[in-house]
Amino acid sequence: SMLDYNVLGGKLNRGLAVVESYKLLKAGSEPSEEEEFLACILGWGIEWLQAYFLILDDIMDNSQTRRGKPCWYRLPKVGLIAINDGLVLRSQISRIFKRYFHGKPYYVDLLDLFNEVDFKTTSGELLDQITTSEGQKDLSKYTVDVYRRIVEYKTAYYSFYLPVGCALLLSGGSLDDYVQVKHILVEMGIYFQIQDDYLDCFGDPEVMGKIGTDIEDFKCSWLFVQALVRVDERQKDILFENYGKSDPACVAKVKALYKELNLEAVFSEYEREIYEKLISDIEAQPNEAVQAVLKSFLHKIYRRMK
Ligand code: IPE
Ligand code: MN
Ligand code: MN
Repeated sequence: SMLDYNVLGGKLNRGLAVVESYKLLKAGSEPSEEEEFLACILGWGIEWLQAYFLILDDIMDNSQTRRGKPCWYRLPKVGLIAINDGLVLRSQISRIFKRYFHGKPYYVDLLDLFNEVDFKTTSGELLDQITTSEGQKDLSKYTVDVYRRIVEYKTAYYSFYLPVGCALLLSGGSLDDYVQVKHILVEMGIYFQIQDDYLDCFGDPEVMGKIGTDIEDFKCSWLFVQALVRVDERQKDILFENYGKSDPACVAKVKALYKELNLEAVFSEYEREIYEKLISDIEAQPNEAVQAVLKSFLHKIYRRMK
């Protein structure tokens, strides 16, 4: 079915993060079966939201495969009906939430949270689309600031802030009291994506289970924007000449340039700094359960590489 095809098959990281965060926030008092069930509903809500983003993203990106299968819109029986399927998924979230949460004190905040994160993510997608594919390829649009904004909006809110926001609401918190937690989670989301971009080029395909294609695909990758601020004229010519081409010789030249610019060390230095900064921001949090949630997220990202 449309649901099985698009919602299942991922790692369910974001959905499971709601349940895990909720348990940590409740530390001490065992959550009742009903509360755990509601945490699962919220987790599935995020997975449905992600399925809706991905269906539409694959159409916009003209992608071939997702999670090892053809993209939904690539199936002959589906085609552009996939657009409607995406919208159905999104509207079903609100209907499911009405069924389970109507009358709860946090119901309005929950709907607001999903609406706001939906808005942020679609804004990020827009920013990504207009920088990546508007008119001719213009690599000079790929700046560090643009990169940061795309990643913050497109990935960080729905992947990192949303699961914790759901868990906080379910455990009776008010999101206005956790503005700093939101900043930390968004920064972690950016770190996560930077690491993803790094691994796309320098990770071991055996370990990753996939072969990176960011160079071939002309992606606004962290490595590219970092290279761009470090190149001399000669290197810039090499970069612009070879980026975004599927010829393996071109890809190899870009990778060689990344090595020449020592981007592996630039990444290690970034990672060391951001890790220390995040740890100290987390430890400045007054609530120990919140600290535990944030540390668990941070260590999951950090460990992915080792
Ligand atoms: C996916 O972004 C966007 C959202 C889920 C909002 P990308 O287009 O950069 O990522 P992949 O490569 O298709 O997963
Ligand atoms: Mn895509
Ligand atoms: Mn995309």
